[in-house]
Amino acid sequence: MSARRTRLAAVAPEERPEAVFVAVERGDAAFRDVRDAADGCRACDLWARATQTVFGNGPVPARLMLVGEQPGDQEDVQGEPFVGPAGRILDRALEEAGIDRERVFVTNVVKHFKWRPAPSGKRRLHERPNRTEIGACLPWVRSELALVRPEALVLLGATAAQAVVGPKVRVTRDHGVPLESELAPLVVATIHPSAVLRAQGGPAREEAYAGLVADLRAVARRLAAA
Ligand code: URA
Repeated sequence: MSARRTRLAAVAPEERPEAVFVAVERGDAAFRDVRDAADGCRACDLWARATQTVFGNGPVPARLMLVGEQPGDQEDVQGEPFVGPAGRILDRALEEAGIDRERVFVTNVVKHFKWRPAPSGKRRLHERPNRTEIGACLPWVRSELALVRPEALVLLGATAAQAVVGPKVRVTRDHGVPLESELAPLVVATIHPSAVLRAQGGPAREEAYAGLVADLRAVARRLAAA
C-alpha cells in the first residue's frame, strides 16, 4: 500500500489536508479507479526499482494543473509529487505568485522514480526518463487531464513540456507564453524548480527563481481574469 493510502487510513478526517484528499473524500470513483490502476502499472520497467507509483495529487477538478518530470527520491518514498527539495522551491514560488497549492492538481509525466546509485552507494541519483518510458506513462497523465479538466496547464521543465505538447517546445525560449495545444484553454511551459537548485551561484539562482515566479504569476493573472 502506498504511503498516501496508509496515511489516509490512519489519519482522522478532520486532520487531513483538505485539498490533498478531496477527490477521495468526495468519493470520486473515477479518480480513485485510475489512481489505483496506476499503482499496478507495469508498462515499462521503472516500477521494479521504485518504491511505488507516485500519482497526481490535489483537487479534482482543479482550475490549475502542474506537470513535472518524475518523482524524486523523497517523492518515491512518500508517494506524493513535489514534496522534496524541488517541491519546496515550487511551494515558495506558488506562494509568491499568489497561488494556493492546495487548490492545484500537481503531477508528473512519469510516475515512477528512475535512479542509479551514487558512487558512495548511499544515495539514489535522479536519471532522466527516456522516450520509451515517457511514452509508456503518457496515458496516465492524459487520464489525469481528462479528470481534472484544468483551465490552465503548466508544464515544469523540458521533459514535461516536450512530452505533453511536442518535441519542438524549448522552455528557455517559449516559457511563460501560451502554447498551441488542445489540452487546456491555457497551456504554458516554465522552468523546472530543480533548475533553480542546479543554477550555479546566487545571482543565477535568483534569476532562475524569479523567472519561475513571473511565469506562474502570469498564469495566476490570466486565471483571475478568466
Ligand atoms: N521533480 C519532479 O519533476 N517531480 C517531482 O515530483 C519531484 C521532483
